[in-house]
Amino acid sequence: MKIAMVTSECEPFAKTGGLADVVDALARALGGLGHDVDVYLPRYRGLEPPGPAERLRLHPGAGAGAADGSVTAVEVLTARADGYRLRLVDHPASFDRADYYGEGGADYPDNGARFALLGRAALETIRAEGGGVAVLHGHDWEAGPAILLRDHVYASDPALAGMATMVTCHNLAYHGWVPRDRAGALGLPARVGKADGVDLLREEVRAADMVNTVSPTYAAESRTPEYGAGLDDVLRERGDRYVGILNGIDLRLWDPETDATLVRRFSAADLAGKRACKRDLAVRLGVDAFPGGEPWGDRGAPLFGLVGRLDPQKGFDLLAGAAQALVEAGARLVILGTGDARLIRDLRALAAHWHDRVAILERFDRDEARRIYAGSDLLLMPSRFEPCGQSQMIAMRYGTVPLVRRTGGLADTVVDADERPDQGDGFVFGPAEPGALADAGRRAIEAYREGARWAGVVERAMSRDFGWTASAPRYLDAYERAIAIRAGRDASAR
Ligand code: GLC
Repeated sequence: MKIAMVTSECEPFAKTGGLADVVDALARALGGLGHDVDVYLPRYRGLEPPGPAERLRLHPGAGAGAADGSVTAVEVLTARADGYRLRLVDHPASFDRADYYGEGGADYPDNGARFALLGRAALETIRAEGGGVAVLHGHDWEAGPAILLRDHVYASDPALAGMATMVTCHNLAYHGWVPRDRAGALGLPARVGKADGVDLLREEVRAADMVNTVSPTYAAESRTPEYGAGLDDVLRERGDRYVGILNGIDLRLWDPETDATLVRRFSAADLAGKRACKRDLAVRLGVDAFPGGEPWGDRGAPLFGLVGRLDPQKGFDLLAGAAQALVEAGARLVILGTGDARLIRDLRALAAHWHDRVAILERFDRDEARRIYAGSDLLLMPSRFEPCGQSQMIAMRYGTVPLVRRTGGLADTVVDADERPDQGDGFVFGPAEPGALADAGRRAIEAYREGARWAGVVERAMSRDFGWTASAPRYLDAYERAIAIRAGRDASAR
């Protein structure tokens, strides 16, 4: 099957969050199953194709990109990535900028136009190559224009007419709102959206043949006003055409036995390397994780890691409220994140006070993230909502026990070790309150103290299989359904 993905991020080329890893890993998994996958991505500043590239020069129609609606030329660079074809949409005025989405805490005002250009370029490329794409698979709101242009502008184009569409919602918090006075640059008919503008995520969720999000629990939660981020009505309306498919992780990219960034590699059979990783992490970050003597002995104090975007979603406020209690119970804390530093103001104050127990790294650092996954005893994910989350899966593979809030994909992947002593591979708390997080943290520290019990939790965590072998076929099923739905639509339109 030929699949065209449209996305704003794809690892290792452009990444701010899990979206990038998922697009890359899913594309590769589908490629590995014999499918032909194209990934359309903006050519952001400094982004070079991964190998020799072919250039295709397009002249998309009016409204494709320039904020004033003028005709603009675009190039698409095509190169081989690992398992799929990467298609970089090259338009310096749109994408050769300091950041992907905005600067100084503000979105670029022409984001609608920029991602309309991405979508238009994808559709024009497919057309120039004579069609043959079975499914146009968009990720998040940035693919909204591609899906909507397909329906409103290219619906009668023979190369694009039969193509089914699917949208994956990785995060409902970002809608891609385009005010009416800028909506002209989308190149869509004025009837799309509301009088005051276009909510791209809402419109694409309504338009796509199939819609999914990245875990079954979040698919259920997002149908409620509490979690639906203002889209619960349209998600409910989609009925069984809105499904939850749990993400996987790429087991080859995330493997403590081969991870070159670690001071020492390790496996479930031999955890000596993990202890070396803990020592290395603690020493480099100035955290006193091995105070010597009782109660922690040689294993040192329980080291909690946290890796993620500094985003309200991730529950930094819950952690700030619980951190003091965790540290007093013996925890050491290592936090790595980029984004809005205001979110960790309270944690910074805590780190200043407990400088030998708490370390905060405010930067994006792929290698250090790996060393935190490997060197920590526990990984914190106190998310307020979490469509899937992948840090908890990576952590488990690295023998690091996740401590998570019971929501979205976290609820689908982590089993509480106190609730189910024989199966537990982590610690789970319910209410989005610091006290609930602190309680779970104390339970975890209690378990950590009991060496043999802890070893069991670690062993079960490491034996979980979160590879894409289960999820990639579920995407193929959804594609098949999208194709059938599209064929039905076309038949009824005739
Ligand atoms: C978003 C979600 C996260 C999910 C990721 C990949 O970043 O917040 O939960 O794992 O997308 O789907």
